[in-house]
Amino acid sequence: VLNEMKGLRRGHLNIAVASTANYFVPRLIAAFHRRHQDISVTLEVTNRESLLKLLDMNAMDLAIMGQPPSGEPAAHPFLENPLVIIAPPDHPLARESNIPVSRLATEHFVVREEGSGTRGAAERFFETHGITLQATQQMHSSEAIKQAVEAGLGLGLLSLHTLEMELILKRLVVLDVEGFPIQRQWYVVHPRGKRFSGVAQAFMKFTLEGAGHLLKTPEWRN
Ligand code: PGA
Repeated sequence: VLNEMKGLRRGHLNIAVASTANYFVPRLIAAFHRRHQDISVTLEVTNRESLLKLLDMNAMDLAIMGQPPSGEPAAHPFLENPLVIIAPPDHPLARESNIPVSRLATEHFVVREEGSGTRGAAERFFETHGITLQATQQMHSSEAIKQAVEAGLGLGLLSLHTLEMELILKRLVVLDVEGFPIQRQWYVVHPRGKRFSGVAQAFMKFTLEGAGHLLKTPEWRN
């Protein structure tokens, strides 16, 4: 215990997160830092595919992602990650409720890049419903997608965590589509080949225990 405490007084934490998680992970880091002021943090933000490569290389102390590698025993869920469909407020579908998924077959979407966990989950959802997602426009960040959807380029499919501001400001609305939100989870993952440092253990414990009251998933009812 003494060693653990000693290790905690100082230390460095190398975290890599899926790009969608950058909407809440800094809040966790700030709260953790208030308790352990001498700990420094490096945060790498990238998509799921790059995260898997970094995990293989043990290139971080902890990863936070929406879909860990299958059969990953060191992955712990700690927060919901609902995916929703967004539109500009003046879109005709914004006034409808219980929109059947089949209605989306003729809509154009602005989607994340190949390798994004959000993109993968969206594709699996539409495939299950026998619908080809019209992924006409592709963008490498949630920010770009929100701007594009707001400007009328198409519908978007993003995690609710990326949408807090736009929903409050009513720049975007969440469409009431059957089967949505797609329910997913956020996981914290410790690479198996990496020594589990005292700081990393403390941050994982803090995340698993504290996420519930520190982090709120934005409201989505319009
Ligand atoms: P992404 O991953 O940022 O690569 O889309 C997040 C997720 O899997 O939800």
